[in-house]
Amino acid sequence: MVKRFMSWLSDPLGRIGLLIAFLAVFSGAAFGLYTTQTAPPQPIQFPHNLHVGLGVQCLYCHPGAYRQASAGLPTETKCWGCHQQLSKYADGTVALPAELQKLKAYVDANKPIQWVPVAQVPDFVHFNHRPHIAAGLNCENCHGDMSKVTVAENPQVMNMGWCLECHRARTVDNPEKRNKLLDCGTCHY
Ligand code: HEC
Ligand code: HEC
Ligand code: HEC
Ligand code: HEC
Ligand code: HEC
Repeated sequence: MVKRFMSWLSDPLGRIGLLIAFLAVFSGAAFGLYTTQTAPPQPIQFPHNLHVGLGVQCLYCHPGAYRQASAGLPTETKCWGCHQQLSKYADGTVALPAELQKLKAYVDANKPIQWVPVAQVPDFVHFNHRPHIAAGLNCENCHGDMSKVTVAENPQVMNMGWCLECHRARTVDNPEKRNKLLDCGTCHY
């Protein structure tokens, strides 16, 4: 038993597994807060459905998704750039709704909005948006239909099984790519 464990340890795959298991114990507790599928309370109840319904593109607010690892969130200045032009509020005909008053307060104070992360994997996993978008996937494949949600929530738990399931499904006729996409070192390094 001990001998078998030692030989597993000397295997690079065993070592990587142990390292990850070790990291997982430490980051697991913090990560546990975010693995739920319910929407966390946010500083502003930002309605995705309304904005997506108006035809604002995902990439307008999350431009990093096709260029880099992280998709990014819009700054309060970007929100306000559009909101200050809405004439019914600007000319005082209609009072600014409560959530937009909060937005204005952030802009006036020049203070960034501290959004609570929703879609997140632990630090010991490397996820990069760019290759996924380049491979032709849509936001919807992983984040669900955002035109139906108000405050963002995950349509599924973003765990290892979820990543691997898709990596397997997308490489049925490409064994070389499959080996790479199922290799521990592709996501853990
Ligand atoms: C491209 C323009 C545009 C951008 C960018 C934009 N919004 Fe909006 N937003 C709108 C429009 C149009 C409405 C609907 C306006 C209305 O009738 O109240 C709206 C509605 C809202 C509402 C609902 C207001 C209510 O009636 O309760 C909130 C809250 C809001 N936006 C917050 C934000 C925040 C926060 C950002 C930045 C993350 C943002 N918006 C970025 C155009 C924009
Ligand atoms: C007007 C700007 C705007 C548009 C358009 C927009 N989003 Fe967002 N998105 C935000 C803001 C602000 C947040 C942070 C608040 C929240 O999590 O609800 C956010 C959060 C998210 C999150 C969770 C992020 C996290 O921190 O974990 C995902 C996923 C997401 N958006 C996907 C999309 C997709 C997909 C589309 C297009 C269908 C889209 N968004 C369109 C502004 C926008
Ligand atoms: C292959 C699945 C997949 C696709 C496709 C995808 N995402 Fe993501 N997204 C994720 C994962 C996984 C995370 C968590 C990443 C992390 O914690 O490093 C994430 C995180 C995010 C976040 C919050 C953190 C950040 O990166 O800034 C936003 C916003 C987001 N995605 C928007 C989008 C948009 C917009 C699109 C489409 C252009 C998109 N995503 C396409 C899987 C995906
Ligand atoms: C809906 C399907 C899908 C999901 C879910 C998914 N992926 Fe992928 N992923 C792909 C495809 C397709 C590629 C291949 C891109 C290509 O053709 O090179 C890929 C490639 C990758 C690569 C290799 C990128 C490169 O530089 O070549 C990494 C790393 C990766 N994914 C990590 C993840 C992680 C981590 C998760 C889960 C948090 C995940 N993926 C979830 C479809 C998916
Ligand atoms: C496509 C990306 C991907 C590949 C390939 C991958 N993992 Fe993971 N792994 C993840 C993600 C995402 C998590 C974090 C979410 C979770 O705990 O399921 C994770 C978590 C883990 C954990 C922590 C377990 C836990 O329950 O917290 C271990 C250990 C692990 N991976 C080992 C491996 C080993 C060994 C391999 C190779 C056989 C491997 N992984 C291949 C994405 C991947």
